[in-house]
Amino acid sequence: MSYDKVMKLALERGFYFPSCEIYSDAPAGFWEYGPTGLNLKNKFIELWRRQLIRRDGMLEIDGCQIMSKSVFVASGHISNFTDPVVKCTKCGSTFRIDRYIEEKTGQRVPERLADSEIDALILQHNLKCPNCKGDFGKVGRFNMMFRVGIGPASEEAYLRPETCQSIFVDFSRVFKTMRGRLPLGVAQIGKSFRNEIAPRQSLLRLREFYQAEIEVFCNPSRLDEMPRFEEVKDTILRLFKDGEAVVTEVTAQEAIARDLVPNKLVAYYLALLTEFYEKTGIDIRKSRFRRLSDVEKAFYASVAFDFEVETSTGWLELVACNYRSDYDLKGHANTSKESLEVVDPADQKKVLPHVFELSMGIDRSIYTILEHSYYEEQVKEETRAVLKLKPYLAPVVVGILPLMTKEGLGEKARKIHSDLKLDFDTFYDESGSIGRRYRRLEEVGAPFAITIDQTTMQDDTVTVRYRDTMQQERIKVPELRQFLHNSLRI
Ligand code: GLY
Repeated sequence: MSYDKVMKLALERGFYFPSCEIYSDAPAGFWEYGPTGLNLKNKFIELWRRQLIRRDGMLEIDGCQIMSKSVFVASGHISNFTDPVVKCTKCGSTFRIDRYIEEKTGQRVPERLADSEIDALILQHNLKCPNCKGDFGKVGRFNMMFRVGIGPASEEAYLRPETCQSIFVDFSRVFKTMRGRLPLGVAQIGKSFRNEIAPRQSLLRLREFYQAEIEVFCNPSRLDEMPRFEEVKDTILRLFKDGEAVVTEVTAQEAIARDLVPNKLVAYYLALLTEFYEKTGIDIRKSRFRRLSDVEKAFYASVAFDFEVETSTGWLELVACNYRSDYDLKGHANTSKESLEVVDPADQKKVLPHVFELSMGIDRSIYTILEHSYYEEQVKEETRAVLKLKPYLAPVVVGILPLMTKEGLGEKARKIHSDLKLDFDTFYDESGSIGRRYRRLEEVGAPFAITIDQTTMQDDTVTVRYRDTMQQERIKVPELRQFLHNSLRI
């Protein structure tokens, strides 16, 4: 289903919309969640907590969004977190040139391609300014971090461009206070900020966005000692490398044996991630772990897989899975002069842990869930648009609809609503035809609608209508609560 249809639904049904939209100077790349989108996002986060954090015994923290300059000197972001840009020599417009080359030629421009090679591509393809057809100047670099000034002296600090830096900076304290043992996942959900040159497509490229990041601290000499691997050894991983014709589907165990994944620790977390996304309802047959080549990896990564999902906008990276080695802890230890080594009880030796990360884009995941859930079908003269969300992700679980308000039906419906609303996401609706009311619920993905009719007044039953099949069954009012609880099981 297309991006435009999801966008229309998102705007009309309160999933998300542009920030500051009543003002003409609203900057691009800032979007806000409305009530339905927020509920979906919160439930997605709870699923992430359940399937990854609790399942693996990880620890979660909540760090600050503004961090000191030293953090980003140590992390390398001050020097390396840049995008290549060119300025038109005639009209002065600036462009993010790697994206422009990709759009014009279909050729991927890897993250670490040298500026001189990008200059050569501009010449080779005779690329000109799209605004005035002028020549581009030489490739330059634009740092994507937002700088902020703290206090009256405006001391230099930055909005974090990735949530994980607080996990690295806090690691030593968290490990000690929580009596951690390697391998240990430390996780964080929160906002990150990147001054994108060309934000676009609503939730897909934002300047302020949500990440759910997991940093697994591990002993590099024990990456194949992973007892928990047994739980996922038969999980199918979909692996891909550029240039290959198809995705290779192998069990996690086979992926290691065939050297498609470097070790048990990485395979284990790729499998957990696959199992998590299966539960979100995205079509896992449209996903792949794309192994990045050396020139494509971020500056801190030594091995990297992008978890990508096919959408109407192309393959979308939802999670960057990076083996960051000791890059970050070493950088912070050197810059802060603090030792960040810990003792591994397995051999009682000190080690500077390595890190494998699962860096998830929440907004893109939400978009993908919406796109993969959306379908339209013809019902008699009407087209019904449905979001086939998993019940446990649906922003509205059940609509409560009196057939009419007369003859005590409205009162009965309001009583049922007030009995359920503290424990379930309910929506009471008595306005318009019953057909229109069903349509509204289907468009926010509500899996059930309860209708209160004359029979309810005689035998205390209601009809429960199922979103996907449109079938109805009668259920006794006192059994509704148990019915809903059962339906929300993951
Ligand atoms: N922490 C990796 C990323 O933000 O892409």
